Amino acid sequence: MSPRVALPTPTAARGAAPEGGDPAAGLLDRFGRRATDLRLSLIDKCNLRCTYCMPAQGLPWLAKERLLSAEEIRRLVRIGVEQLGIRELRLTGGEPLVRKDLEEVIAGIRDDHPQLPIGLTTNAIGLERRAEGLRRAGLTRVNISLDSVHRETFAQLTRRDSLDAVLTGVAAAAEAGLTPLKVNAVLVRGVNDHQAPELLRWALEAGYELRFIEQMPLEADRTWEREATVTAAETRRLLGEQFRLRPSAEERGGAPAERFTVWDKRDAATAEARGTVGIIASVTEPFCAACTRTRITAEGRVMSCLFSRTEVDLMDLLRSGADDLAVAQRWADAMWAKPAAHGTDRPGFDLPGFERPDRSMSAIGG
Ligand code: GTP
Ligand code: 5AD
Ligand code: SF4
Repeated sequence: MSPRVALPTPTAARGAAPEGGDPAAGLLDRFGRRATDLRLSLIDKCNLRCTYCMPAQGLPWLAKERLLSAEEIRRLVRIGVEQLGIRELRLTGGEPLVRKDLEEVIAGIRDDHPQLPIGLTTNAIGLERRAEGLRRAGLTRVNISLDSVHRETFAQLTRRDSLDAVLTGVAAAAEAGLTPLKVNAVLVRGVNDHQAPELLRWALEAGYELRFIEQMPLEADRTWEREATVTAAETRRLLGEQFRLRPSAEERGGAPAERFTVWDKRDAATAEARGTVGIIASVTEPFCAACTRTRITAEGRVMSCLFSRTEVDLMDLLRSGADDLAVAQRWADAMWAKPAAHGTDRPGFDLPGFERPDRSMSAIGG
């Protein structure tokens, strides 16, 4: 077993106090991990219907009044940063651009925290018009989901003919300086897997950092099978047809992506590297032991893990006049109970003990 997969002994088993979290210690869990990256979902709604995430007919969306407001989001981020040691923020969805007040949300957070890195995970539809304003509001960078640069393949995967809007959105984000710009692609066997080297070539030429994500059992349709997952090893093999990859020497920390430096096999042997590519191998090479993430859903619930089946509500505290300390305490308690891996005691989506969360990726936030 590699060191990244080995799990530390729970603090409780080592004899320390097992009861709950201590906000003064930050968002610590029983395994000694500390969450410093906050992933906050702004809305569950999305304007695409990616087959590995949403059903064709969509899902019952949350009513607007059940979503965290811009002010509530600002308060949660303030509590996270000032009291719980959050150092990085990522805004997710559904599709965060569906929220009309996204600029207002970001500007408020930026006012409070001039130095906080604020990222956005988006499908880029509508970014063409909003990239510059988002940057002015204080957004640092974007990660864009794009599985294919072929119109038909894109439409097959997303059930929408929107490739042009995405490509103009990507270009506008780069133009606005929302960089380093990362592109996330899920490979689906028989649909876009054979396009992997071409997608990488496109990203390298444009100067974007492409990451391939192994498909996880988070689709609303519940059709996931391990055998159908295009694995990290397979992805490396597919890319190897045209590129030479070498693991990056950089420290990975808690990042989901393993990064590789990339050389084009068509270049001379002495040519410079073309850039980097990442592989996010949650299925075959899990990275839970180094996890630094805490999540809040669009209706204000803490999910300590992407695969949590327990959700801890902060919204009722926010809306009943509770003070910051009470919110921080409940958030810290939720994180103290974070499971070891994949929502349970060991990583493995096909092992006994794993049970998927009731939510699809769109309702968690990626
Ligand atoms: P940066 O590297 O900081 O740009 O962000 P990121 O890679 O954490 O963010 P992004 O939203 O682009 O995440 C990419 C993908 O990684 C997500 O869509 C998930 O598929 C996967 N991922 C992110 N966090 C986790 C996690 O905690 N657990 C697992 N299993 N997968 C995750
Ligand atoms: N497995 C892996 N990644 C997924 N995403 C959505 N559903 C899944 C899944 N089942 C990714 C999208 C997007 C990010 C928010 O989550 O491709 O990049
Ligand atoms: Fe962290 Fe859970 Fe993701 Fe593992 S599955 S990396 S523990 S959020």
